[in-house]
Amino acid sequence: MTPEFIIVSPQERPHIAYVQLNRPKELNALNLQLMQELRDALQLLDADDNVRCIVLGGNEKAFAAGADIKQMAGRSAIDMYNVDQFTIWDGIKKVRTPIIAAVSGFALGGGCELAMLCDMIVASESAKFGQPEIKIGVMPGAGGTQRLTRAVGKALAMEMVLTGKFISATEALQAGLINRIAPVELYLEEAFRLAAEVAKQSPLAVKMAKESVLRAFDSTLEEGLHFERKNFYLLFASEDQKEGMKAFMEKREPVFTGK
Ligand code: HXC
Repeated sequence: MTPEFIIVSPQERPHIAYVQLNRPKELNALNLQLMQELRDALQLLDADDNVRCIVLGGNEKAFAAGADIKQMAGRSAIDMYNVDQFTIWDGIKKVRTPIIAAVSGFALGGGCELAMLCDMIVASESAKFGQPEIKIGVMPGAGGTQRLTRAVGKALAMEMVLTGKFISATEALQAGLINRIAPVELYLEEAFRLAAEVAKQSPLAVKMAKESVLRAFDSTLEEGLHFERKNFYLLFASEDQKEGMKAFMEKREPVFTGK
């Protein structure tokens, strides 16, 4: 079925898929259907061997202004429990293909959390990041208190979460939340440029490296090092390792196949 609230381009560039959040009138507010469509699309792209990197974007005005407040407003705690929306987020977390968020305008609440769930963030000069849930009587629920704190540290995370203040792209870059800033006309192109740098590497090595970096957040140093080492050894079972090292010695570009 064609999704209603996202647009999926599986081969936007060679080996790069583009997924665009597409509820522009609502500033891409993340209702349940949008999140389900997004999870389903990302899982399909993850299973597609031709896709080596995914760019996730919105539009110039908004990446996403958060979870859909109108959809949530009347819900009880039991409704929230039964809807269990975070299972969808867990599905996105399991995607092994790298995802780059291309953020322009608002990335607020669940929108900021969705960007942080991605592996890298390229922002336009107009990007604004924030966790304003406190202003509507709640708090972040999709990782904001955890991923933001790990990215920018306690001082700034606490201030953003307790006051709802937004930070600019420049502040986000300084704080370590994002990777790059580009002018509004160029930020998406910049995201594709970064995606192309990832997509030209061995897709197997990339997936295992992503998994290993993420493990740093979930483990002790010793466990993380152990996990990293296993993946490092495992890659010696791949043709790409042979090709990559051979190409280096032959002073040519490697041709990676993902095998
Ligand atoms: C539903 C939203 C929305 C949201 C904007 N809209 N954000 N609808 N949920 N999160 C709708 C508005 O109601 C309006 O529609 C239209 O989008 C344009 O928004 P405006 O407010 O008119 O635009 P502007 O004046 O430019 O202000 C932009 C804004 C403001 C600063 C981003 O919209 C805003 O504060 N939005 C809410 C941000 C927020 O609190 N996010 C956190 C949500 S809670 P109509 O039809 O009314 O004109 C959350 C919890 C996450 O994310 C938990 C895990 C998923």
